[in-house]
Amino acid sequence: MCGIFAYINCHVPRERRHILEVLFNGLRRLEYRGYDSAGISIDADNDDHLEEVKKKKKGLGLGGEAARQLSPPLVFREEGKIEKLVTSVYQEVDATDLDLEFLFASHAGIAHTRWATHGPPSPRNGHPQSSGKGHEFLVVHNGVITNFLVLKETLVRHGFVFESDTDTEVIPKLAKFVYDSLTAEIESNGGGETVKFSQVVMEVMRQIEGAYALIFKSLHYPNELVACKCGSPLLLGVKEFGEEDRRGAFVESELILAKDGKPKEFFLASDASAMVEHTKKVMVIEDNEVVHVRNGSVSIFKFEREKMGKLRGMPRPASVERALSVLAVEVEQIQKGNYDHYMQKEIHEQPESLTTTMRGRLIHGGSKVKGVLLGGLKDHLRTIRRSRRILFIGCGTSYHAGLATRALVEELSGVPVTMELASDLLDRRGPVYREDTAIFVSQSGETADTLEALEYAKSCGALCVGVTNTVGSAIARGTHCGVHINAGCEIGVASTKAYTSQIAAMTMMALALGEDTLSSCSRREAIIDDLINLPDKVREVLKLDNDMKELAKELMEEQSLLVFGRGYNYATALEGALKVKEVALMHSEGILAGEMKHGPLALVDENLPIIVVATRDATCIKQQSVIQQLQARKGRLIVMCTKGDANLMCPNGSYRFIEVPQLQDCLQPIINIVPFQLLAYHLTVLRGFNVDQPRNLAKSVTIS
Ligand code: F6R
Repeated sequence: MCGIFAYINCHVPRERRHILEVLFNGLRRLEYRGYDSAGISIDADNDDHLEEVKKKKKGLGLGGEAARQLSPPLVFREEGKIEKLVTSVYQEVDATDLDLEFLFASHAGIAHTRWATHGPPSPRNGHPQSSGKGHEFLVVHNGVITNFLVLKETLVRHGFVFESDTDTEVIPKLAKFVYDSLTAEIESNGGGETVKFSQVVMEVMRQIEGAYALIFKSLHYPNELVACKCGSPLLLGVKEFGEEDRRGAFVESELILAKDGKPKEFFLASDASAMVEHTKKVMVIEDNEVVHVRNGSVSIFKFEREKMGKLRGMPRPASVERALSVLAVEVEQIQKGNYDHYMQKEIHEQPESLTTTMRGRLIHGGSKVKGVLLGGLKDHLRTIRRSRRILFIGCGTSYHAGLATRALVEELSGVPVTMELASDLLDRRGPVYREDTAIFVSQSGETADTLEALEYAKSCGALCVGVTNTVGSAIARGTHCGVHINAGCEIGVASTKAYTSQIAAMTMMALALGEDTLSSCSRREAIIDDLINLPDKVREVLKLDNDMKELAKELMEEQSLLVFGRGYNYATALEGALKVKEVALMHSEGILAGEMKHGPLALVDENLPIIVVATRDATCIKQQSVIQQLQARKGRLIVMCTKGDANLMCPNGSYRFIEVPQLQDCLQPIINIVPFQLLAYHLTVLRGFNVDQPRNLAKSVTIS
């Protein structure tokens, strides 16, 4: 849901071409977060000074570097994909005689890729948004400013003219207003003092409400950037001068952000995927932190709204020291490799992602009692077992993953599990109690509804557990304890490998919850055995790729598809239908088979394709009866069954089968979803749609 990126080289001379490429690549990595429009801002060559501002600077006693670079920054914005922006920037650079080899000793550039919230995709609604003529302040924003209308009214009264429909535009305009007011105040007191860039931003923060990650660039502060956040994610990356682009090994070390002013390059990005090719040394910026990068140093301030009151005339908060951590992501993980699309790659890497999810967590072999080790949960298992209720809370695919594990958690823990779509829980303010355990499932760890539901559950006193794929994400940090699914970067907007890893992680959670129950020992051991077999079984089911392509050819012209499932595979029906719907843009509906007779049966005829999930488990007999009833209505059936069961399911062999290997019932959803993922993928390619960036969607939904 919008990606923001910035690059600043401090005393590391870089050509304009290099700066542009770093910004474009940053955007390419973040494009999955939104792809309605994109924009960047860079500096012009330094010979075209803005006299008026220069005078103002002199009055404030600034000279040297600051006065040197006072040309208005250049802003480029384009509707559509990033490559369109790239083409137009290079054309513009050509046409305006800007020198691609122009060497900047220091330079601050910002970039944005947009998922439209306020105002349709168009260059004027793209970011960077500007304070107006001369681009005194420029801002890229991920999030939503909820009080923008009030601020806009005030700014209009002060003579500001708005050009876009965005909520963001109030921010740079407010920054200019604050800057001008502070400057005027200083001047009226005889001058001499300077207004710090971070001071302007903190005053802006004091006035805006909502969720945001912001990066500011300013004509008044050349070669400086200020970033801040509240709710939306933001990382700072640091690359020491001389450190080459990351390709090889890296000595893991932690270093405190030093104010040494040495040559360095800094990166700011919505997530790690835009950072990892440059550096692994990052700092996750926390809510209400203001990060000021200048002259090879970083200052971090903690913004405390309540304590601060109005900033004008108040001392700035003291800067805080933060350690850098080392990213555990490799460059290869964020590249497509030999695949055509990220979704395809992510489907096919599930044997490996599942292995990583389970690595070091399964106890088996030798004389050891089989079990699981979940470090992030071990101190809380007793509390969870004693809960009055467990709530699984999430959105979309993550909700489905919870649904797929619900029965096992109930079986092994004996605690009833309630399923909650985060938005619905919030809409109804459903009751949550101190004695509840609320489990928040989220790949990104930043989904706004899930995050808000987390705040709500915390305020109700529940124990909050996170199941996320993003270390350091808001949900990972905001929960009391949790499990990282370690599926690796998921870049395709449609979630695939994260779904299977979520189920595997929550299966292990269920095993841990049941570990003190003797009566379930053999059941738990059987599940652990099958978890060990899981990657191989997924490899086996991936061999259905061609069959799914053939099926996709058969279905590609259809308008609609139904999927019937029950028990563990009700989740498979919902998730399978969601995959087809979101990427292939084909209407599809997942239906609980037990509900078939209560309405959906009316849709059945010889034309509408229906996939029935009927792999072996306790509900299989009931699914056979569903198949018979559908057959009696001449339904056009495709049956997913356990390998070798085709004859049993349909002795006259009149429909298509998808035969899959068998595992313990609770693990079967991991196997069963794979053919659906492949089907959705091939349908999308055949129908000519964008696989990795489905229409109107974005990967991280950071607005509620
Ligand atoms: C569908 C999909 C979405 C997400 C949902 C929640 O393929 O990816 O339905 O599952 O937006 O996102 P996370 O898991 O990041 O909270």
